[in-house]
Parts: sequence; structure tokens; C-alpha cells
Amino acid sequence: MRKLMAAAFMLLAGAGTAQTRTIWDGAYTDAQAERGHTAYMQNCSRCHGESLMGTFEVPPLVGRIIPYYSGSSLAVFLDYISTAMPLGRPGSLSPATNADIMAYILKFNEVPSGSKELTADTARAIQFTPKPRKK
Ligand code: HEC
Repeated sequence: MRKLMAAAFMLLAGAGTAQTRTIWDGAYTDAQAERGHTAYMQNCSRCHGESLMGTFEVPPLVGRIIPYYSGSSLAVFLDYISTAMPLGRPGSLSPATNADIMAYILKFNEVPSGSKELTADTARAIQFTPKPRKK
């Protein structure tokens, strides 16, 4: 019995460290969000607006985005913008540019930056979760 509990504990501890990285742990860098801002203004702001509020026909990229994607990894969001956006010429931006734009959108949503750049690879291991109450 004791052995079993020790094994269960190790499983839990392992899961806690390896799998629960979230957007609130620093998923992108400030420099990256800066590049993303430029790319956003060139490729997205025409429809989604300079303050990401969208319009009557275009959804906003601020506010509802995080609750909407909660439980998914950043890769889901990145895949969407990489394949469906910019509307009219979808898939036309490079993977690096799409990651930069996503960094900018996170920053605009008050998600804190960190020390590592976001890539299509790291995006897979980072989860959207609702904002923690206090950190
Ligand atoms: C020509 C106008 C246009 C441009 C340019 C454009 N979008 Fe969109 N975007 C839309 C419309 C319209 C929708 C809603 C699409 C739908 O429901 O199928 C949308 C939906 C989205 C969504 C889903 C939002 C949600 O809440 O479901 C994301 C994310 C997004 N766009 C990101 C971007 C990014 C990033 C860029 C720039 C690389 C971009 N869009 C450029 C018009 C545009």
C-alpha cells in the first residue's frame, strides 16, 4: 500500500512539472511581440482593428480569445491563424511571423512575457487557461 501511494505521488509530481505549462508562465518574449505588432499592423489590423476590437463582421482578438481557447494548446490557435488567416490570402505568412503575431495578441491580452520565444514547437506544450486569480 505504501509503495502504491509513493508511485501515485511520483506520477502526480511528474505531471505537475512536465505538463502544466500555461500561457501565464511566460510563453513569448517582448522582442517577439514587438515584431508581431508590426506584422499584425501589416496583415491583420485592416479587419481586426488597431486595438484588436474587430468590427460588426470580424471577431475581436482581445477579451474573449482566452476563455474561448481555454483547455487547448497554443498550437490550436497558431494552426488556425496559420491556415485560415489572413482572410483573403490564408496561409501566406511564414510560421515565424505567425508565432510573432500570436505573441503580440497574447501581450495585448495582458499575458506576461518570458525569456523564451514562442515557436510552432513550443506552442504544443503550452495551454490556454483562464487568468489565475493572483500570482
Ligand atoms: C480580410 C479581413 C481579415 C484579415 C486581413 C484577417 N482576418 Fe482574422 N478573421 C476575419 C473574419 C471575417 C473572421 C471570422 C471568420 C469566421 O468566422 O470564419 C476572422 C477570424 C479570426 C480569428 C478567430 C477568432 C475567433 O474568436 O474565433 C482569429 C484568431 C483571427 N481571425 C486572426 C487573424 C490574424 C492573426 C490575422 C493576420 C495575420 C487576421 N486574422 C487577418 C477577417 C480577417
